[in-house]
Amino acid sequence: MIKPDAVKAGHIGAILNQITENGFRIKAMKLTQLTLADAKKFYEIHQERPFYGELTEFMSSGPIVAAILEKDNAVEDFRKLIGSTNPAEAEEGTIRKKFATSVGENAVHGSDSDENAKIEADFHFAGREVFG
Ligand code: GTP
Ligand code: MG
Repeated sequence: MIKPDAVKAGHIGAILNQITENGFRIKAMKLTQLTLADAKKFYEIHQERPFYGELTEFMSSGPIVAAILEKDNAVEDFRKLIGSTNPAEAEEGTIRKKFATSVGENAVHGSDSDENAKIEADFHFAGREVFG
């Protein structure tokens, strides 16, 4: 996902460009907005964390771009491309270093395993919205 902060700041094009230039193929994509209930469901793994309320309110605060990306070793390579959760610790040239403003408003989300990538893809997209 491109998170609400980066959509609002006009960074959709620059972020997608960096993603595709790094060899990821877009299999599905849409501009959409999560309800608070959607965000709570999506991030339910973090429900015990102190920032869960802040995180879910932020993620439902405005439009996001949801996408399914394909590449060999996609999960690991995408997390390398986006950089550390906290942009202050993110490596130079990473998407979060360039576009994130704080640990909460950190521009992009990436799945943390192939298993979760499948669950998250199904969360956002119907079968007919996904291309080969
Ligand atoms: P995602 O790709 O969004 O899952 O980020 P991540 O895997 O790098 O981090 P993690 O899954 O641990 O946390 C999920 C999201 O919760 C982060 O991307 C942040 O937006 C948010 N988050 C993590 N730690 C904090 C925090 O200390 N404060 C706030 N406000 N948000 C946090
Ligand atoms: Mg995560």
